[in-house]
Amino acid sequence: MERAGKLITFEGPDGSGKSTQVQLTARALQEGGYSVLVTREPGGTRLSEAIRGLLLDPCYQEMSPVTEALLYAGARAQLISEVILPALAEGKIVLCDRFVDSSFAYQGYGRGLSLDLLHLINQFALTKLGNFYTILLDLPPKEGLDRSKEEILRDRLEQESLEFHQRVRDGYHALARSSPGRIKVIDASLEPEVVQKQILEYVSAYLLDQDQGYPF
Ligand code: TYD
Repeated sequence: MERAGKLITFEGPDGSGKSTQVQLTARALQEGGYSVLVTREPGGTRLSEAIRGLLLDPCYQEMSPVTEALLYAGARAQLISEVILPALAEGKIVLCDRFVDSSFAYQGYGRGLSLDLLHLINQFALTKLGNFYTILLDLPPKEGLDRSKEEILRDRLEQESLEFHQRVRDGYHALARSSPGRIKVIDASLEPEVVQKQILEYVSAYLLDQDQGYPF
């Protein structure tokens, strides 16, 4: 029986260790015989990486929240059509470092845009994409920012105030409360090995549930 493709997204604040955990998860799945594709948002295609440049460059302080939301959705639409849908069609497990919940958390709760508007904008990007599963690495914003880069090297979003990042975190919690079946919250302040173990427990339960009998 062929395995069906699955999309698993990783969310959390800047500095929560997402990228490392995505890589560790990819390795574990590959060792379990899964074919895995790792990608990230914003980015993952030539065009989406170019949009990423616009979004994160601190020189564009004038960018309005709506422009920001549309650019993230544009980068997402290209990634979905060019990379994610073809990989899912080949039966791959796609691990994506950030996805649409980042838009709800940052542009919705952080910037104050309406969630309905964000759903609408992202509907265009997400058409044709089925269900997905989400790991949320939770961390107090101060800890995340301290763990990330020196202040001078921070991108446009990382340069936002602590209050902004606190709203983003509260937003993630609200999203997790409203989708408890899809979004699984893990305390990212724990040791990376412990975090990884919890991720694999959630991911294997999800894949087992979906595939009915393919443990890794
Ligand atoms: P990135 O360097 O990938 O951050 P991290 O390493 O923390 O994942 O930069 C992505 C930034 O873009 C991050 O601050 C979150 C933000 N973002 C949004 O505001 N909306 C979105 O839809 C996405 C995908 C990211």
